[in-house]
Amino acid sequence: MVVELHALVQRAQSDVDGASSLDDLEEIERTFIGKKGELTQLKKTLGQLAPDERRAAGQSLNEAVSDIANTVRVRRITLAAAAEAEQLRAERLDLTEAVSDLKRGHLHLVTQARDRLEDVFVGMGFTVAEGPEVETAWYNFEALNIPEWHPARGTFDTIFVDLGEPEEVMMRAHTSPVQIRTMENQEPPIYIVAPGRTFRTDTADATHLPAFNQIEGLVIDRGIGLGDLAGTIDSFVKAFFGHEVKTRLRPSYFPFTEPSAEFDISTPSGDWLELGGCGVVHPAVLQNCGIDPEEWQGFAFGFGIDRLAVMRYQLDDIRELVNNDVRFLSQF
Ligand code: DAH
Repeated sequence: MVVELHALVQRAQSDVDGASSLDDLEEIERTFIGKKGELTQLKKTLGQLAPDERRAAGQSLNEAVSDIANTVRVRRITLAAAAEAEQLRAERLDLTEAVSDLKRGHLHLVTQARDRLEDVFVGMGFTVAEGPEVETAWYNFEALNIPEWHPARGTFDTIFVDLGEPEEVMMRAHTSPVQIRTMENQEPPIYIVAPGRTFRTDTADATHLPAFNQIEGLVIDRGIGLGDLAGTIDSFVKAFFGHEVKTRLRPSYFPFTEPSAEFDISTPSGDWLELGGCGVVHPAVLQNCGIDPEEWQGFAFGFGIDRLAVMRYQLDDIRELVNNDVRFLSQF
């Protein structure tokens, strides 16, 4: 029996060593030391032995069972570790994400145009001024020499705000109110440009937007005249559009300037294109701001920034600027 046991334990050990999985191992364990295992069967034969042999045989049998159980336990640890490693490998998630290069956007065309205008004027010695988008009649009209009865008020197609007296508060129809605010707060000499949003009741079409952008210029100093205005406009246009571009002034009318003019720039095809209005600041406007017209004179100008962008980028329709279609905007 002892010899038989020895062979059995050896066979069990080699089977256990050869087990390739935990299931395999359990099967082997059952074969040898399970309820119906070979050693369990052997135990049942103990009764047939003589009592003195029985003890020794029983002991050997128990040792054999515990030897096999030990081998199984050790092998189980190895197989369990391997099974866990395999599971981890199989269930591993690849969390790396291939991200394409971030596409960098750019400033809006109107912002680009405004920034460049500011740069050009700052380079000429101007500073940048600002004013509110909601104005009172004083700043939008009266101080600019446009009294209530003045027909020019109608041409501004003003959007009024329902606040205070009727037609007293409004969305500014032009950036010219910033002239007044600057002169009220600043002693001459004054050299400012004021870019900003302006509003009129216009219906949007290919050449109009109800909310648009203007830039205002104002110079107040001693001995300033029309020649300074013409020279400033010419310098700015050449700096902004290029040296080949010519400018001209055409007589016009604005209540806040006298004389007044429209200024045009030359196009490559030889035509003239109207850019904005300008003139020598009306003495009444200076007086409205507490500035002595005998001592100080000046000029002012104003034009649309959106239209400038339309010209510069040869757009067919000004509404493209506010449609926010990425396919359009990303071209520039
Ligand atoms: N504010 C005028 C407009 O929107 C444009 C303008 C004309 C501005 C003459 C000026 C100026 O400063 O002198 O129609």
